[in-house]
Amino acid sequence: MLSIQNIKSQFPILNQKINGNPLIYFDNGATVQKPNVVLKAMDDYYTYSNANIHRGVHTLSRKASELYEHSRKTVADFFNVLDPQQIIFTSGTTDSINIIAQGLSKSILKNGDEIVLSQYEHHSNILPWQLWAQENAGILKVIPINQNQELDLEKFEALITPKTKVVAVAHVSNTLGVITDVRKIINLAKKHNLIVVIDGAQSAPHMQIDLQELGADFFVCSAHKMYGPTGVGVLYMNNYWLNNLPINKTGGGTIKTVSFEKTEYAEGALRFEPGTPNIAGVIGFEAAIKFMNEIGMQNIYSHELQLVNYAQQKLRDIDEVILYGTSDEKAGVVSFNLKNQHPFDVGTLLDKYGIAVRTGHHCTQPLMQHLGIQGTVRVSFAVYNTKEEIDFFIEKLKNVIRMLS
Ligand code: ALA
Repeated sequence: MLSIQNIKSQFPILNQKINGNPLIYFDNGATVQKPNVVLKAMDDYYTYSNANIHRGVHTLSRKASELYEHSRKTVADFFNVLDPQQIIFTSGTTDSINIIAQGLSKSILKNGDEIVLSQYEHHSNILPWQLWAQENAGILKVIPINQNQELDLEKFEALITPKTKVVAVAHVSNTLGVITDVRKIINLAKKHNLIVVIDGAQSAPHMQIDLQELGADFFVCSAHKMYGPTGVGVLYMNNYWLNNLPINKTGGGTIKTVSFEKTEYAEGALRFEPGTPNIAGVIGFEAAIKFMNEIGMQNIYSHELQLVNYAQQKLRDIDEVILYGTSDEKAGVVSFNLKNQHPFDVGTLLDKYGIAVRTGHHCTQPLMQHLGIQGTVRVSFAVYNTKEEIDFFIEKLKNVIRMLS
């Protein structure tokens, strides 16, 4: 049995009042709060082990390098990846997708090729591909969503032509919380020899993911949505791409030998990690992964699913509410509007009660255009949220409805 109060007590930021009310943090899709173990790991690194990595023979440098590489191994284990070198640390999901898009643009993507995305992609999984398409007469095709606001995978295969090279989709919609059947996408894509990129920014914090079993070419996510610090991301790639993806950023740390005539690059993850990385962040990320492992990803998923279902059920009882992405199988997100009200007004008034939600287009403007709305109010959960918080939120939402009517 999970003790949510015990878990919550490990997050000092949650123990405060906002506008006179206890903070209810429902903006975990944007970034999640950090437990003491993560804060301490980073503090300890700066206090006792700060040194640059992979560059020094002195004790502190060796210690920092060991901590950094240990984190890589822990992250690899978390995703059941056999070779830790397949885990590359970047600055976040956005950085990871840019590295993939630019690398593929220098290798397999040719003028006029096609890339398949989905209707509910985050801008960060649209823009790098769009930039390539604009410069190379490329075409972006879109898997539509059906009436239940889930991806219509029946329509996916029909989008594939001999020119299709890549399919890049979100595992979980950041706006709707809907979970994509990525297994089905990967199976279909592999039948057509497509490269598969999975944006796991909104799935990795909520569910167990086995990258060996999944079999995608690339998988990306961000530490700060997984109880870790900002400025650290994961770029997983399979062995083929680890050895063959062209790099687009170079610098110290990525090389074996350099002369003015030529450079021999390092093998493995370091080839993609130029400059001094976010060492403290990577070490903090390891603590975050251990924190999640201790609770258990299945427990996190079940708890958050209960919260989603409870919140959706309560919201369905309110006449003024329009719910989006109402599937029962979701990861941590509930999105809604109040009829005839702007989401910003709802978010601003909820903040007066100490309730933090995200409002707006959630960096998914093409989805908003499809739904014919400007934005939504998004409630997104983490393991420390409770049904009592949802009750308080529903009570205050009813006040907001009265105020706005
Ligand atoms: N991508 C983050 C979100 O969905 C920022 O809110």
